Amino acid sequence: MKSPLLGRRSFIGSTTLVGAGLAAQSAWGQSSGTGSKKVKFGLIGCGGRGRGAVKDFMGACKILGLEPELVAVADAFEDKASSLGKHYEVAEKSCFSGFDAYKEVIATDCEYVLMATPPSFRPIHFDAAVEAGKHCFIEKPVAVDPVGARSVIATGEKAKAKGLAVVCGTQRRHTYKYLRNKALIDAGAIGEIRGGVVQWNSRVPWVKPRQAGDSDADYMARNWLNFYETSGDHIVEQHVHNLDVAVWFLGRLPLTALGFGGRARRVSGNMFDFFSIDLDFGDDVHIHSQCRQISGTYGRVGESFVGTEGACYGGGKLKGKDVKIPEITVDTDNGQQQEHVDLIRSVRAGKPLNQAKRIAEVTAVAIMSRMSAYTGEMIRLNDLLKNEQSPHYNYTCKPTPLDFEKGTVKMPAETPPIPGEEDKRFANM
Ligand SMILES: NC(=O)c1ccc[n+]([C@@H]2O[C@H](COP(=O)([O-])OP(=O)(O)OC[C@H]3O[C@@H](n4cnc5c(N)ncnc54)[C@H](O)[C@@H]3O)[C@@H](O)[C@H]2O)c1
Repeated sequence: MKSPLLGRRSFIGSTTLVGAGLAAQSAWGQSSGTGSKKVKFGLIGCGGRGRGAVKDFMGACKILGLEPELVAVADAFEDKASSLGKHYEVAEKSCFSGFDAYKEVIATDCEYVLMATPPSFRPIHFDAAVEAGKHCFIEKPVAVDPVGARSVIATGEKAKAKGLAVVCGTQRRHTYKYLRNKALIDAGAIGEIRGGVVQWNSRVPWVKPRQAGDSDADYMARNWLNFYETSGDHIVEQHVHNLDVAVWFLGRLPLTALGFGGRARRVSGNMFDFFSIDLDFGDDVHIHSQCRQISGTYGRVGESFVGTEGACYGGGKLKGKDVKIPEITVDTDNGQQQEHVDLIRSVRAGKPLNQAKRIAEVTAVAIMSRMSAYTGEMIRLNDLLKNEQSPHYNYTCKPTPLDFEKGTVKMPAETPPIPGEEDKRFANM
């Protein structure tokens, strides 16, 4: 299907669109995979994004002429699972709660599992889903420590061997204007990227105060966005979107991170308020990563790059040479829905997408950046992903997801790390 957007988009100079579609799998229609119009799916994590992902998945099915059925849901908390379940007429017995409830969703006959819990849980949930032969939608980010990121890479390989699709929630990669700029850059419109800045400067999204009767695990699972052990800190949880664009547009991973951060106003948890990181991509190319969550301050979210022959904003204005790029095909202007279209279409065409490695690597870039700011050290990506001798290789945030399942969660201190000082939390870094 051709994009209804094509006629509406303007391009630099006489740039033209030629060739095959980029975003969509053009093989749609050749094979229906299961042959049935029915698509059964399950959800783990019934919060804001879980609810949004269900809506997007259903919208994607509508675009593809399929009939979605949400067969089971799981959440750490009973009220969350049952309220979402009720909204989508999921049988009461298929609304599961508890820290091991994900196993129940995965044990149903659903074909797809959508995962939208806090990121720390993603590696074990993803692995369980792939073990059970499910196609997966995994929200970003996919881990909070190097061990988790490597686990997602390994699970992604397992999924590949089983012919399962894995799509992650980095919607910019499924959004027309970003796809267009990436294609223009690849065609040489701005020459070679020599530097840039990626930013997520905003406010603290929310704080959930401890409720009477909450165990440590309950409190951390509710207020997960403010603990780095569950969220990865906002440089991982939120800014990963912009880091992903840098890695995507440059076409390679950074080698090192050197940066700093701190805390001025946060009232809950143990994270930093702001980060400023120099990412060295080699060949004298540096990207400045900057993110801040402080209410009442100037907000800017986006990416900008300077090339040898032009410049561009992530999905915005591009100044450079006239070049030809392939035709870009999307079904909807909404990247969060398009990612589900691309997931399902790839399965039905027998060409499953697998984005596990790339989202795990970008998550590791964000983790590396956080580790640099927390410790005050320069951190190498290789030490997180490959170098088994590195003290950073086996760094694990505690409490771990298994602590939540086993009931052995002990609250970490609600104070931020202090760079340059010996801190027991980083003894294994
Ligand atoms: N792609 C995007 O633009 C986007 C936007 C928002 C959030 N997200 C991502 O989606 C994920 C969820 O974010 P959210 O905003 O929906 O948060 P949320 O707090 O609204 O929802 C998380 C849900 O997970 C539940 N939960 C916690 N631990 C669990 C466990 N072990 N098992 C089952 N359920 C558990 C919580 O009770 C909650 O209902 C995060 O990874 C976040 O980064 C992505």
